[in-house]
Amino acid sequence: IVLPRIENEPNRNYASGSKERADLQHAVDEMMKSAPFEVPCIVNGKHIKTGDVAKQVNPSNHAQILCNYHQADEKLVQEAIEGALKAKQTWEEMPWADRAAVFLRAADLIAHKYRYKLMAATMLGQGKNVWQAEIDAAAEICDFFRFGVAQVSELYAQQPARHAPGSWNRMEFRPLEGFVLAVSPFNFTAIGGNLPGAPALVGNVVVWKPSPMATYSNYLVHQILTEAGLPAGVIQFTPGPPAEIVKACIDHKMFAALHFTGSTTVYKQLCKDIAANYDHYRNYPRMVGETGGKNFALVHPTADVDIVVNECIRGAFEYQGSKCSALSRLYVPASLWNNGGLKEKLVSQVGTISVGPVNEFQHFMGPVIAQTAFQRIMGFIESAKKAGGQVLAGGTGDNSVGFYIQPTIIETKDPRSTTMVNEIFGPVLTVFVYDDSKADYWQAISQEIDAATDYALTGSIFSRDRKAITEASAMLRYASGMLYIGQKPTGAQVGAQPFAGARASGNNYKAGSTGFFYQFVSARTVKESF
Ligand code: SER
Repeated sequence: IVLPRIENEPNRNYASGSKERADLQHAVDEMMKSAPFEVPCIVNGKHIKTGDVAKQVNPSNHAQILCNYHQADEKLVQEAIEGALKAKQTWEEMPWADRAAVFLRAADLIAHKYRYKLMAATMLGQGKNVWQAEIDAAAEICDFFRFGVAQVSELYAQQPARHAPGSWNRMEFRPLEGFVLAVSPFNFTAIGGNLPGAPALVGNVVVWKPSPMATYSNYLVHQILTEAGLPAGVIQFTPGPPAEIVKACIDHKMFAALHFTGSTTVYKQLCKDIAANYDHYRNYPRMVGETGGKNFALVHPTADVDIVVNECIRGAFEYQGSKCSALSRLYVPASLWNNGGLKEKLVSQVGTISVGPVNEFQHFMGPVIAQTAFQRIMGFIESAKKAGGQVLAGGTGDNSVGFYIQPTIIETKDPRSTTMVNEIFGPVLTVFVYDDSKADYWQAISQEIDAATDYALTGSIFSRDRKAITEASAMLRYASGMLYIGQKPTGAQVGAQPFAGARASGNNYKAGSTGFFYQFVSARTVKESF
């Protein structure tokens, strides 16, 4: 099928006094009043209340329960797998235009009917402020579905170039033989949509284990897909204990692919567990993993100080630093840091950031996701202090009502100190000041950035010297899967910046690109002689 040109979902502006703001505020208030919601598992289109209930709390106010959700057990996951395998034939044989229509319609339902509801669930469940919820649960999820349809159409159109007289060569892009396991993270509702959505677009069936901390928004996504016409059994919604659910899937002979976004440690362990089952599988499973990051910004002495300050604050502290792409290590030249006023401007602007409940709309930062995250992040700050790191801003937290941590800047003299090399997934930016008085300083600091961690997700270079940009870009060639020049390392837009990382950050299959869908098809080449 040939589609009209796809555009990114336009962002709305929730300015004070606007109708959009009033409508969103209403959706948030209503959701707070009506919570807690009861969320079932969804298997073969049936809503199943297993009775094994867990809760998802509002991280802005942890006394408030957003939803109580029923957890799947191994037996229900077995049923989900068998049901999905039964639903597979009808789904994969459905004409592409009809499968596409389900996702295009789901995007329209989100954009025009459920936008504020899905944003409210993302705000109250995942601690996103209005803007962060808008770019995720309103825009990016629609973009994944719409651009996904366009990209799959491009994929299907890719055919062998050469036909000898008397024959016709062609490729059929079959879905994988078996089912896909999607394991999605808390931090993006859009990723919750794309992890089961991308494989389903190309005709696969999916068992979806959402993050416990995003259950409610992810359940709404499933409901929206169903309203858009997704047949029962194509995506099975099975929240619950990860070990049990994942094990039931990866022990199955027809396990065909893992579509995972989450921590490096968990992904590596899953790879090992899957490898141990290799003899047992019908097909070698496809592994698509998007894992951790330790993202850098490298500042050249020629950089514009105001741009660096603004972009680094946004990169490090938007959504409390809980994006896999968040900036967390900053390398600045001594000449700009001290005499150029960079330190003073950065620290004073961070001091003006307000942190508070996301339903109040005005805060730049909300809470971190959970008590475990709060403790982990505070632990990193304490260990940095003990190791001689100087806290220039923040450094404190308060979890009495919600899980709030002040935006924190640590200056370190050791480029390999704990907070310079470990993923923190919180609002902590560590700064290393390099000596730019030596002749080879640019090469030396680039080499340090490349060698300091195993991660390679995102990075930024700030400079007004084209030669310096060219050199650093070459020296940091493998240090990230995403390189931003002159801006923060977050906020990739579907259709514009295909997103993924390498090394310990993932297999680097770019989400939001045509090539991505190759992971979820198993092509058959047909030569027909006339
Ligand atoms: N795609 C997001 C970003 O670029 C991270 O998942 O920030």
